[in-house]
Amino acid sequence: MMMGKQLYEGKAKKVFATDDPELLIVSYKDDATAFNGLKRGTIRGKGVINNQMSNLLMQYLEKGGVPTHFVKELNERETLVKKVSIVPLEVIIRNISAGSFAKHYGVEEGIVFDAPTIEFSYKNDALGDPLLNAYHALALKLATKEEIETIKQYAFRTNELLKAFWAECGVTLVDFKLEFGRLSDGTIVLADEISPDTCRLWDSKTGEKLDKDRFRRDLGGVEDAYQEIMRRLREHL
Ligand code: TMP
Ligand code: ASP
Repeated sequence: MMMGKQLYEGKAKKVFATDDPELLIVSYKDDATAFNGLKRGTIRGKGVINNQMSNLLMQYLEKGGVPTHFVKELNERETLVKKVSIVPLEVIIRNISAGSFAKHYGVEEGIVFDAPTIEFSYKNDALGDPLLNAYHALALKLATKEEIETIKQYAFRTNELLKAFWAECGVTLVDFKLEFGRLSDGTIVLADEISPDTCRLWDSKTGEKLDKDRFRRDLGGVEDAYQEIMRRLREHL
């Protein structure tokens, strides 16, 4: 597969064209940002871990009935994916209170919910990714009603599959963010990445954070946490 010109550079990934108009190459960087780019840093080895973890988890999700953009891992940092137009919604599922949920509603972190929650934010850095509901998404024509229904189904299915998988690894899936895209024929597939950048993952026994919160909150041991979570995934997948 020929790597073509760079189409886009985001905060954690670059996207390149290929000689096939339906396929793109994603390249994962070690760059880390938080708080809408206000905090910047490098997490050594993150690009390799996020690439490999995302690919393994997406293949696992495909088997469980969630279609994804994944095609083929090309090397440590680069993956061939189906070209999509991203639905500009960040889809967040939570099993346990943490982060912005705890802050918005004035509750402590670590409250286990009876049922998972879903929320959407408008993927728009200039506006700071504001929260919105399905009616707002329809009003703004970000997605159709049918697309939102499909996205919700895939998001909850993803939660069931990932929660069960991480539990086997001794890891509690607290919350995570997904992005979906449309293939050229309009089919909705899971896109972007699933990694410690986009999930909260706590050690089931000790509660230790094994995700990007170590970077966001200056907890130290960031690289070690990424390596530890990858080691556990490899043991079980
Ligand atoms: P939050 O509690 O800050 O809203 O984050 C919820 C989840 O979404 C958490 O697992 C981290 C992830 N997330 C992203 O992947 N990208 C983002 O820009 C933000 C704010 C959160
Ligand atoms: N990736 C987001 C940013 O740079 C935020 C985050 O993950 O906390 O702003």
